[in-house]
Amino acid sequence: MSFDFSGRVAVVTGAGGGLGRCHALALAERGCAVVINDLGGDVRGEGGSESAAQAVVREITDKGGKAMAHGGNVTSFEDMQDMVEKTVSEFGRLDILVNNAGILRDKTFAKMDMADFRTVVDVHLMGSVYATKAALPVMQEQEYGRIIVTTSSSGMYGNFGQSNYGAAKAALSGFMNTMKLETAKFGIKVNALLPVAATRMTESIIPEEMLALLKPELVSPAVLFMADETAPTGEIIAAGAGTFSRSVVVETNSVYLGDAPTPEMIRDSWDKISDMSTATPLNSGSDHTQKVMKAVFEAKQK
Ligand SMILES: NC(=O)c1ccc[n+]([C@@H]2O[C@H](COP(=O)([O-])OP(=O)(O)OC[C@H]3O[C@@H](n4cnc5c(N)ncnc54)[C@H](O)[C@@H]3O)[C@@H](O)[C@H]2O)c1
Repeated sequence: MSFDFSGRVAVVTGAGGGLGRCHALALAERGCAVVINDLGGDVRGEGGSESAAQAVVREITDKGGKAMAHGGNVTSFEDMQDMVEKTVSEFGRLDILVNNAGILRDKTFAKMDMADFRTVVDVHLMGSVYATKAALPVMQEQEYGRIIVTTSSSGMYGNFGQSNYGAAKAALSGFMNTMKLETAKFGIKVNALLPVAATRMTESIIPEEMLALLKPELVSPAVLFMADETAPTGEIIAAGAGTFSRSVVVETNSVYLGDAPTPEMIRDSWDKISDMSTATPLNSGSDHTQKVMKAVFEAKQK
């Protein structure tokens, strides 16, 4: 059965351009009412105007879809509360939150101003936290919700010049890991998108011949997959240029080194400790503790 978002309501932050606009158009095309949030600033997050958001609203309403603009700044919890209030008063509910808004302030860490580190963490991490905090009571009351955060290859794997951005993006997968546990009983699913696409954010970083293949609209099907009733939870889904993959944090077997472990013992056992053929994903921190205890008990019984 094809996905149908008729009767559903979504908020997409930073949807005035780039990936957010494509996610919003794709949701609207399948019947979703969409709130287009965007501050309208430049790629560093400076300046602002609601016209970018309004232009996307017009694109949707011209095709007969339902949409509303919101010019709130994701770094303001009050703005995010206002966005959720206006969404519910206009469309009656809020089913899908796509945390997409973002900026870059790249520099090597040695040369980076601490203000630029904080601003990037504020927009990506706190922006997603504020929008989620504002949306959560509505989703809990409905006993239904889909929350998507946007992480990045910088967060999962690192990228030169992006210590601020990578830290904020990695923090979002940590946020998702706990949110998926706390919201499961309310019918809420929380997932993360790991995109790669040609937007103003990447036009100076990625070579031109690659940019031609990295159309942002090729990422949005992954967002719709995570926004649907059938969505999984706690997944990081990478999408770019028509490819899709699953990114997972895994851990190798817990190797017990006795009651008096030394750094030399770790060095001498490193092949065994780092043996990726034993690696498995874990669903929670308490699963990790249980794995550690199981290894200790098993070793002591031998
Ligand atoms: N393009 C990629 O390859 C790529 C890769 C990994 C992650 N991402 C992430 O995807 C998301 C979208 O990025 P994009 O490439 O479309 O960039 P983009 O610059 O085209 O879009 C970001 C949008 O967010 C808006 N925005 C910025 N700060 C805001 C704020 N404080 N409040 C409200 N809106 C704000 C901007 O006005 C802009 O429209 C970002 O979170 C980005 O980090 C992108």
